[in-house]
Amino acid sequence: MKKEDKPDFGEFKANPLADKTIVLGVSGGIAAYKACDLASLMRHAGANVHTILTPAATQFVSALTFQTLTRNQAHCQQFADDIDWRPEHIDLAQKADLFVIAPATANIIAKLASGICDDLLTTTVLATKAKVLLAPAMNPRMLEHPATQNNLAILENQFRYKIVPPETGEVACGDWGAGKMASLDSIMAAIQGQLFSHQTLAGKNILVTAGGTREPIDPVRFIGNKSSGKMGIAMADAAYARGAAVKLISTVAVDRPYPVIVVETALEMQEVVEGEFDSCDALVMTAAVADFRPLAVSVQKIKKNVSEDFTLELTKNPDILDLLGQIKRPDQVIIGFAAESEELLSNTAEKLQRKNLDVIVGNDISVPDIGFGSDDNAVVIMSVSAERETLPRMPKRAIAEHLCDVISQALLEKQESGLTI
Ligand code: CTP
Repeated sequence: MKKEDKPDFGEFKANPLADKTIVLGVSGGIAAYKACDLASLMRHAGANVHTILTPAATQFVSALTFQTLTRNQAHCQQFADDIDWRPEHIDLAQKADLFVIAPATANIIAKLASGICDDLLTTTVLATKAKVLLAPAMNPRMLEHPATQNNLAILENQFRYKIVPPETGEVACGDWGAGKMASLDSIMAAIQGQLFSHQTLAGKNILVTAGGTREPIDPVRFIGNKSSGKMGIAMADAAYARGAAVKLISTVAVDRPYPVIVVETALEMQEVVEGEFDSCDALVMTAAVADFRPLAVSVQKIKKNVSEDFTLELTKNPDILDLLGQIKRPDQVIIGFAAESEELLSNTAEKLQRKNLDVIVGNDISVPDIGFGSDDNAVVIMSVSAERETLPRMPKRAIAEHLCDVISQALLEKQESGLTI
C-alpha cells in the first residue's frame, strides 16, 4: 500500500449505555428468569441498573440474583425499614433515565394503564418523568383479550410508553401463539432507541443490507465470504434508535423490533432491495455481495470420485449498488462500503464515482483483528459533498452512529438544494 493510501487511525472505545441509569422492573411471570440476563447485558453495556421486583416476581426470581448481577441493591418492598428520609419510589423515579419493565404481565399492564400504584414498581413508574419501555409476556389468550389490548393501547398512545412486541411461539404453559417475551436483542435495541432518541432520522425510511451472500454449488455447498453482518446490524440498530423506519435485508437472521428480511443469494438480495428501493430515503449497502455465482447449481450432491479435477464454472452476479446508483432519485442517498486489501483510498474513491454513490465507507481488510467478524472497525468515509474523514478503531455501533449523522446531513443538503421531488 502506498503511504498516501494509509490513513492515520487512532484508538477509541465506547460502551453504548455508559452513564445511563436504568430502572429494571420485573413483574411476576415465568419470563422473569430472562430478566436476569437482561440486567447483566445492560450492566455490561455500561448502564447503572437498579431493579425493582413486584411481590409476584419474587416467586420466580430473587432480589439477590439481581443484586449480584447489577451490583446495586434490588428493591421489593414499598415500605422497607432501611430507607433514609427520601422514599425509595421517589428516589428511583428521579434517578432513572429509562424504566424497562421486562417481563410486563397482563396485571402490571392493567395497573399502569389505570394508574393503580399498590407496590413499589407501579408507584415508582407513576412518579417518574423518565421514558418507560415494556416487554409484555403472557399467555396468548391473555394477550389477545380486549382488556389487555385496550390497556396496551392506552400505554402506547396516551402515555407514550414504548412496547416491544412479544414474539409468537410456544409459551411456558404449552400454548402456542403471540405472548413470548421479545428476545433480549430486541429489548436491548429498543432500549438504545429510547435512550438515544435524538430522533434525527424520524420520518425517514432507511434500507440496510447486512451479511455475506451464499451462492449454492449443490445442496450442501456454497461460495461464501467472511462477512458476519455485524456492521449492517449495528447500522440498522443505530438508524432505528434515531427514529427511522428501518428495514434490514440480511443473510443473518436476527430478532429486532423492526422488519428483517432474510435472504441467501445475491439474486435474492437484489430482488428484495430493488423492490424496497423506491420507498426508501437512504440505502446503506453494507452487505458483502458475491461478485460471482456458480453457473449451474447441481441438484444432487457432487461426488468426489467423478474425476481427479473439478472445474466450477462461474457467472457474474449483478452489481446491486451499481444498478441502483443509476436509477436513484435526486432526493435519495446511497451509501456503499468498500472492503480493500490494497490502495484503500484510491480504490474507495474510484467506487464512489463509478457507482454514483453519495457516500462510501472504506476499510482496510489487511489490518488484523478488525473488520470481518470483529466488533470493531476503522474506516475512511468519502463523500461527494464533504471532506474525507478517517474514523479510528472503534465499535461498529459507534461507526454506525457517525454514519447516521452523515445520512442526516446528506438528506438535509438534498432537501435544501431543492432537489426533493
Ligand atoms: N456490491 C453490490 N453488488 C455486488 C457487489 C458489491 O451491491 N455484486 C456492493 C457492496 O454491498 C458494497 C459495494 O458494492 O457496498 C462495494 O463492494 P466491494 O465488494 O468492495 O466492491 P466490488 O464492487 O465488488 O469491486 P471489487 O470486488 O472489484 O473490489
